Amino acid sequence: MAARLARFLLLVRLAARGPASAGAAKMKVVEEPNTFGLNNPFLPQTSRLQPKRDPSPVSGPAHLFRLSGKCFSLVESMYKYEFCPFHNVTQHEQTFRWNAYSGILGIWHEWEIANNTFKAMWMKDGDSCRSRSRQSKVELTCGKSNRLARVSEPSTCVYALTFETPLVCHPHSLLVYPALPTALQQRWDQVEQNLADELITSQGYEKLLRALFEDAGYLKALEENDSAQQEGGTQGLEFETLESCNKAHKELSKEIKRLKSVLTQHGISYTKPAETSSSEHLGSKTPTHRTTEQLRGDLGLRGDTL
Ligand SMILES: *[C@@H]1O[C@H](CO)[C@@H](O)[C@H](O)[C@H]1NC(C)=O
Ligand SMILES: *[C@@H]1O[C@H](CO)[C@@H](O)[C@H](O)[C@H]1NC(C)=O
Ligand SMILES: *[C@@H]1O[C@H](CO)[C@@H](O)[C@H](O)[C@H]1NC(C)=O
Repeated sequence: MAARLARFLLLVRLAARGPASAGAAKMKVVEEPNTFGLNNPFLPQTSRLQPKRDPSPVSGPAHLFRLSGKCFSLVESMYKYEFCPFHNVTQHEQTFRWNAYSGILGIWHEWEIANNTFKAMWMKDGDSCRSRSRQSKVELTCGKSNRLARVSEPSTCVYALTFETPLVCHPHSLLVYPALPTALQQRWDQVEQNLADELITSQGYEKLLRALFEDAGYLKALEENDSAQQEGGTQGLEFETLESCNKAHKELSKEIKRLKSVLTQHGISYTKPAETSSSEHLGSKTPTHRTTEQLRGDLGLRGDTL
């Protein structure tokens, strides 16, 4: 079977090299083996394009929605890269080998947002790469026409694409606030007001904005496990408002008082920290110290962002 395939492909190649072959004909022949390979029922499953999930819904600035359903490709050395905005990024090996590699480098996931700006499109959950999945970050830059301009792999199985388009040339074209529905703009206004009135910390501000972007569909909610891992042991020590922080501090102080009285009742000494290791953690100094430290840190951040 393989031998016959090879002979067939050799014929195709020889035909393409014929004296009459122009650039256009050559291009066509390059594409053929891939199409042939994709339809080949004997191909191993791994070299077929099988998305792990559906893409996220189209989101972001409305004037970019017209890119959905279109695809833009770039041939670089051995590979053809294809970027289908709001859908996927794929890679196709340009070769006559019967088992030419084609792979998914990411499926549309979410926007990267910073400083009230849509910075990049993240395409995740591509083909497996060791224990992870291939993923791609696509940056949109101003250009004369829609064009996939550059592809690189800054770290293993993480691809960086640059997509040029006239759609992002206006300085406001990638701003987040104007893209939001009115209700969410009003929510953002309120968040800004609360920050200005010092009702929330800058940490709380970031959290509320993230939730807002999630509700707008720009960002995907973090998976439970991820957020649990990120917060680690500090869960419960982060507060969105000074009020809730003070309340938690009060409750903890009360609990310490109660535990101390229980210890006293049973005649157990708790004043000497050297005696037991647990008394160190329960000492009233630690939480107070942490609280002031956190507040000081927040004020510092506020100074930076205002
Ligand atoms: C990638 O997206 C394009 C455009 O929507 C679609 O036609 C194609 O089937 C997708 N490819 C994969 C492997 O999902
Ligand atoms: C944030 O965006 C504004 C314009 O929207 C720009 O002037 C400013 O330099 C940006 N700041 C950072 C840190 O990127
Ligand atoms: C979270 O982690 C547990 C084990 O630690 C696992 O069983 C569960 O499937 C994970 N859930 C998600 C959404 O990843």
